[in-house]
Amino acid sequence: MSQQISRREFLRGLGASVIAGTGIPLARASGTADLASADPLRLVFYTDVHAREEWDTPEALAMAADAINAQGADIIIGGGDLITDGFQSSAASVASRWDTYMSFHNALRGEVHTAIGNHDLVAAIPEDGSAPAEDPRAEYRKRLGVDRTYYAFDTHGYHFMILDSIQVLGGRHKYQGLVDAQQLAWIREDLAAVPAERPIVVALHIPLVTGLYQMTEGATEAAPAGRVVVNNRDVIQLFENHNLQLVLQGHLHVSEMLHWGSTRFITGGALSGRWWRGPWHGTDAGFAVVTLSDGQIGWEYVTYGWKARRPRNA
Ligand SMILES: [Fe+2]
Repeated sequence: MSQQISRREFLRGLGASVIAGTGIPLARASGTADLASADPLRLVFYTDVHAREEWDTPEALAMAADAINAQGADIIIGGGDLITDGFQSSAASVASRWDTYMSFHNALRGEVHTAIGNHDLVAAIPEDGSAPAEDPRAEYRKRLGVDRTYYAFDTHGYHFMILDSIQVLGGRHKYQGLVDAQQLAWIREDLAAVPAERPIVVALHIPLVTGLYQMTEGATEAAPAGRVVVNNRDVIQLFENHNLQLVLQGHLHVSEMLHWGSTRFITGGALSGRWWRGPWHGTDAGFAVVTLSDGQIGWEYVTYGWKARRPRNA
């Protein structure tokens, strides 16, 4: 599987700060002697679906749902970009994409939570001359049945936090990755009630950290503001006295894991691969499967056998 090769290459490139996913004791790798025990947790993280109707995409999504269900996960997390191009489109023009996404979503068995992606904002900055939405997150909340695009919950002994990492800017850059002040205050408040030893999993669309730009463009290249959360340190520092074990991130369509302190940052590839054109930087259409158990983490990227049908020029 090409993913194995790219992961090995990635490991070779970044050395000690990155680990392969399987069976590495968290305690030994992190130097933390006493990690809280929680129930074993098997988690599927799928991201960057980019639902639409062209190129037999609904058929691909039906295959993906079957493959995800076959994993028998305790919990399924979606990482955003559930649909294609909501950001610059009118609500009417992306309604069928939401329908396509929700068919996939409703085919998933078990507990499913999703983070919002930049493509999931609807009519933030429409390009067809129609008026911008008063609240570009409203359609997402309605479709997913959530009151807010960031929230927390507990399951299997873990504390989960879903974050909203999109800030609409307008202008040339359209948006950037940001966890805004209101959310930072909420995270602080939420964590105050979370015991220090309870393992925490965070999911958000735009990564807090990635090695993508160093691997593809050069060691001194910074990630652009639209590709990472610009105030990542403000976010990460809030977890300083807590047991943040795992951060699930999307947006970049590559599969990677970075290990810093006792936290693993996993960028979960893309269910759509290279936006339905095949692999992107060696990561084909697929999803991540993560197991957390007795201080050990297992991680693999699973492809679901989709052969891209999007023409090269489309
Ligand atoms: Fe995406």
